Amino acid sequence: MANVAVIGAQWGDEGKGKVVDWLASRAEIVVRFQGGHNAGHTLVVGNQTYKLSLLPSGLVRGKLGIIGNGVVVDPEALLAEIARVEAQGLRVTPENLRIAENVTLILPLHGAIDRAREAARGARQIGTTGRGIGPAYEDKVARRAIRLADLAEPETVVAKLDELLLHHNTLLAGLGAPVFEKQALFDALMALAPKVLPFAEPVWERLDQARRDGTRILFEGAQAVMLDVDHGTYPFVTSSNTVAATAAAGSGLGPAAVGFVLGIAKAYSTRVGAGPFPTELTDATGQLLGDRGHEFGTVTGRRRRCGWFDAVLVRQAVKVGGIQGIALTKLDVLDGLPELRICTGYRIGGELFRRLPAAPGAQAAAVPEYEVMEGWSGSTQGARSWAELPAQAVKYVRRIEELTEAPVTLLSTSPERDDTILVRDPFEG
Ligand code: GDP
Ligand code: IMO
Ligand code: MG
Repeated sequence: MANVAVIGAQWGDEGKGKVVDWLASRAEIVVRFQGGHNAGHTLVVGNQTYKLSLLPSGLVRGKLGIIGNGVVVDPEALLAEIARVEAQGLRVTPENLRIAENVTLILPLHGAIDRAREAARGARQIGTTGRGIGPAYEDKVARRAIRLADLAEPETVVAKLDELLLHHNTLLAGLGAPVFEKQALFDALMALAPKVLPFAEPVWERLDQARRDGTRILFEGAQAVMLDVDHGTYPFVTSSNTVAATAAAGSGLGPAAVGFVLGIAKAYSTRVGAGPFPTELTDATGQLLGDRGHEFGTVTGRRRRCGWFDAVLVRQAVKVGGIQGIALTKLDVLDGLPELRICTGYRIGGELFRRLPAAPGAQAAAVPEYEVMEGWSGSTQGARSWAELPAQAVKYVRRIEELTEAPVTLLSTSPERDDTILVRDPFEG
């Protein structure tokens, strides 16, 4: 019996939330280990749609949710999200949600810095979610972040605010943005403290116990390998490591605890925000994929850029992300397209590449080489078994397996929880 880590294999929004919710029926604990409320995970359960950003998707299944130390938590956003899902009938209490006491907090000044820097970048914007994710991770690495446990020590908060404001107010003033006042920040944090501290604990102890008891743990990734701060399309990335190895460090467990790594990939490609996207379609087909796939950012509301499946990128994500099986989602969006394309290489300056080079100039110049496949006329929408899939759709899936060098172990055919085909149970290893 293994634990399972779910990570995105493209640029995010592959359907991680749906897959985690589905798999959560087979686990007891669901752990978020990186990212923050830049994530937007949509779960469709009957007539309810849940949009989660910080809360582990397993909560909807009545499982224990854990926010690991590798996450950055905006306490205001957390409380707002809890209120939102409670309005939908889901109870979130310290009984079913635990947060690592050593988790880094996102403060209002992080969002302000994030947005001011984006504005200053002008045409070279990254297209961040503006939620302070990058600046909060910077403060963590710079050793000045306020962490959840600090809220129980007002004198620690005061000392850290001095250092934080020295740094950030200098920067904000330089960017021509309003600066922050210490007392107001302190008062706000002290008002939040009694609301969020009851969720705090050393989650590593609970997870260690779960390991020893053989309790199944599901690790829920946010963002995706191509947004990983090391392995993604840098600098057009998020500020955390999104690969499966982070599940261990980001929750306080050793690498052996991670178990089977399931990479989620859409049957085509999308990206929110700026940055290289070799297979992007700016024509009517791209428009069609976006319309049929409802490709609008959960967090930003921005229309997602759409393109063909990029087997070069997903193969690279499989290798650097440690992906052992692929959950292929949104196959139904391709129903009825007469012809499909899969990228099998890039032409850059006359040379053929089977990987995306690291230099931004080369990434921007990559021209995809395509393999053309016939589409299918039947429907995959809502299919719950291989037998229901048109032969040509099966062929498309098989070709993706060959080119990405990873088996498709799960298939998703609609947003609805149960429209899922299990090929191999990831918890069986
Ligand atoms: P995440 O960030 O990886 O969790 O993905 P998002 O929730 O941001 O975006 C995926 C979107 O696709 C959501 O609106 C899901 O409801 C939807 N979705 C997930 N799987 C499928 C599928 O197999 N088919 C279709 N048509 N939609 C899906
Ligand atoms: P889920 O978990 C898609 C993108 C942003 C931007 C870049 C950096 O739903 O797949 P950030 O605010 O993180 O500093 O922005 O990363 N981005 C996402 N794109 N899905 C996400 O999460 C994303 N989280 C961040 O659009 O391009
Ligand atoms: Mg999303």
